[in-house]
Amino acid sequence: MTTDSGSWVAPGRVNLIGEHTDYNDGFVLPLAIPLQATARVSRRDDRTVRARSRQRRAERREFTVDTEPGDVTGWASYVAGVFWAFRQAGHQVPGADIAVNSTVPGGAGLSSSAALECVVALALSDLAGLDLAPDELARLAQRAENDYVGMPCGVMDQMASMRGAEGQLVFLDTRSGHTEHVPFDLAAAGLALLVVDTRAPHRLVKGEYAERRADCEQAAKLLGVPALRDAELGDLTPDRLPDRLLRRARHVVTENARVLRVVEQLRAGTDPRAIGPELNASHDSLREDFEVTVPELDVAVATAVDAGAHGARMTGGGFGGSIIALVDDHAVEAVAAAVAAEFDRRGFTAPRHFTATAARGAHRLAT
Ligand code: GLA
Repeated sequence: MTTDSGSWVAPGRVNLIGEHTDYNDGFVLPLAIPLQATARVSRRDDRTVRARSRQRRAERREFTVDTEPGDVTGWASYVAGVFWAFRQAGHQVPGADIAVNSTVPGGAGLSSSAALECVVALALSDLAGLDLAPDELARLAQRAENDYVGMPCGVMDQMASMRGAEGQLVFLDTRSGHTEHVPFDLAAAGLALLVVDTRAPHRLVKGEYAERRADCEQAAKLLGVPALRDAELGDLTPDRLPDRLLRRARHVVTENARVLRVVEQLRAGTDPRAIGPELNASHDSLREDFEVTVPELDVAVATAVDAGAHGARMTGGGFGGSIIALVDDHAVEAVAAAVAAEFDRRGFTAPRHFTATAARGAHRLAT
């Protein structure tokens, strides 16, 4: 069914566990969060796209549906990239007026870009009457980011934004593309998921991310496996891999195993507090082996755990951004305050915090 205009939303995400595994054909376990990008979109009869963003003081950007990588830069490249990805996939798309408003903070590791790509992708699919499935839209959004914006991300963020569901984690096998929802009712267990945005400036994110990805590909090649998903801990020996690649591979292999254990525990209905040690181990591995943390992330995690969190870890790509901490619901403010006090003591920028619940994925608004 085609439509001429409407409003759509797509959420940001936090990742419970499974970091830097998505581009290694591995497992991830994110949840969509209540912060979201909203787009008011109406069809145009020409091939022009006019986009504006409330976060950029309604700055207006204009391009055509035949845009090519390099034409549009900055925030609007995520919008233009989606038009480009649809056209690359052979879809006919109309011009549009697009007004974006997002409550997902940029640079916080909460996937503000995936939220923007996904909201535009869903709106465009409806405007063009394409009726594309959520997974297909997630892949088009990822393509926009990879090949138009130029960030070689995996598919986790876009899948979380498209497939999120209230009270559910999105368990995704990035090799098969298979997703399953895993119930995640922390409130029933007297728990909350505290998110602390460290507000540490992202440092060289794009270059560092691409380097990690290249390290993983190189390690898989040396091990003679299609992807690190296929490696086993016993394969990771100094005669087969130089030290840095061995540590990168060890992170991916152990992280995949942690995801599977967490899924098993949550499915079995175990007290969610039991997953705390897996969160801590994930952070240690990201700090020591994958080397994507910064002092702000390490201090936030250590302080949260000292202040009573059952487990904590950085979430997202790293090099700045946010941490998550599993805390008793009555302890949320005390743990957040402990982190803020430690940041103050060290002269770091004051952090921000909120609690995340698992929210619904991208959809069209009724009004
Ligand atoms: C970023 C990327 C994701 C994923 C994470 C790390 O968020 O966009 O695809 O690789 O980093 O887990």
